Amino acid sequence: MARMPLVAGNWKMNGGLSMTRDLVGGIVEGTTDVTCELLVCPPAPLILAAFQASGGAKLAIGGQDCHAADSGAHTGDISAAMLQDMGCSYVIVGHSERRQDHREDDATVRAKAEAVSRAGLTAIICIGETEAERDAGETASVIARQLDGSVPEGATQDSVVIAYEPVWAIGTGRTPTPEEANTVHRQIRDHLSGLPGGSDGLRILYGGSMKPANAADFMAQPDIDGGLIGGAALKAEDFLAIARAASASD
Ligand code: PGA
Repeated sequence: MARMPLVAGNWKMNGGLSMTRDLVGGIVEGTTDVTCELLVCPPAPLILAAFQASGGAKLAIGGQDCHAADSGAHTGDISAAMLQDMGCSYVIVGHSERRQDHREDDATVRAKAEAVSRAGLTAIICIGETEAERDAGETASVIARQLDGSVPEGATQDSVVIAYEPVWAIGTGRTPTPEEANTVHRQIRDHLSGLPGGSDGLRILYGGSMKPANAADFMAQPDIDGGLIGGAALKAEDFLAIARAASASD
């Protein structure tokens, strides 16, 4: 089944107003030969500036996290409905930095993904094993447990995106081989084959030290449908190079 590749930039806690204008402006200028779907996820205070800088161009904008509740007494948090109201179309949930820094467990991630769906947006649900789990040969069982705990009941292959991000590959410059990553992507697709409509159309992104030099090899894998990009998403030319690699694999 043809799956439209998605290249998503996760800016994490980086940037300011002028960087947002420059980076989004640079991305928008370079998209003429990009045919994959492009998404940037700036920090929440910069989302409106990102929309302004995109000038209505074909660039989706998303959040990096949201609260599981729709509104209420949750100081410092933002809701999926707020992100929707600003024009966002995606929200990343369950990134390993949130799982570690904020002790988010699978149940929390699932509740957030449900909130994203209620707001009419698409959740990008992140999963991935630590280095110790990989060394212990537990990757498949960790992935299965995270999927069982984090993917909402009633999710369909069109309502969510999965991002496979081995924790040990994030920001380290180390990656699994494209074949190793594809094996895990295949396990994810097989594990979710019971979703309504199946999982042939489910988009599964690879994340963790993806950059222009390795993007084409990852994108060439049959079950890798795009990337969740951290460091390389902070430079327009690198992000665009990855987007072109994904477009060529289309
Ligand atoms: P990285 O981050 O590309 O800098 O490794 C990816 C991510 O954490 O989403």
